[in-house]
Amino acid sequence: MLMTTNDKKTHWQNVYNEKKPEETSWFQEFPMGSLDYIQKAMSELSEPPSVIDVGSGASQLLDSLVAIGIKRITALDIAAGGLRASKARLGELGENIKWVVSDVTQWHPDKQYDLWHDRAVYHFLTRDEDRQKYMKTLKAATRRGSFVIISGFAIDGPIECSGLPVRRLTPAILDKDMGPAFERLAESKETHITPWGAEQSFQYCLYERVER
Ligand SMILES: C[S@@+](CC[C@H](N)C(=O)[O-])C[C@H]1O[C@@H](n2cnc3c(N)ncnc32)[C@H](O)[C@@H]1O
Repeated sequence: MLMTTNDKKTHWQNVYNEKKPEETSWFQEFPMGSLDYIQKAMSELSEPPSVIDVGSGASQLLDSLVAIGIKRITALDIAAGGLRASKARLGELGENIKWVVSDVTQWHPDKQYDLWHDRAVYHFLTRDEDRQKYMKTLKAATRRGSFVIISGFAIDGPIECSGLPVRRLTPAILDKDMGPAFERLAESKETHITPWGAEQSFQYCLYERVER
């Protein structure tokens, strides 16, 4: 079934209306897979990076970014509900965070970030056309020397997330999608344990943009 941006927005708004963040399958208290790669990217940079968390939802990654001293943070999501939960949880700690409600495939960034982070959003883009739009946004939001972390269900992971079909990822699949402008620096897999104890295999990849 073809989902429009409005269909997707409704789906995700319902999720955040009906569930607490800690009741969603993707909940993590400490997003270690992401933080390992963020620290790796930071070791290459002379100052704390500007970071965008794409499809941030209610992710506690934001809390960790604030805790390690990152001040320039943007959290983007198609649904306001997850972002609202993060804003409420963080209180004053989140006062510098820029909150953006948009479909990433329709968004026009007004600046370029040092680090783009996406956990479990790109894997929902099962149509070529949507992936091309995502890549267009990613390119507009980064520059040569920017780092990109993309993670989603691995090839041995589930075929659905939140009741929606996903395209499972391997480093080779992502390399092809990212194209020659991005060089893969690292890849790893993580077994995520859902709040009800199920195992989900995730693929993580870290890229650096090497071409304009
Ligand atoms: C599986 S959740 C992951 C949330 C968060 N990244 C995490 O790891 O906790 C997917 C998130 O992506 C958002 N999302 C889905 N499709 C999107 C799109 N096209 N543009 C922006 N956000 C999207 C959803 O609203 C949801 O918050």
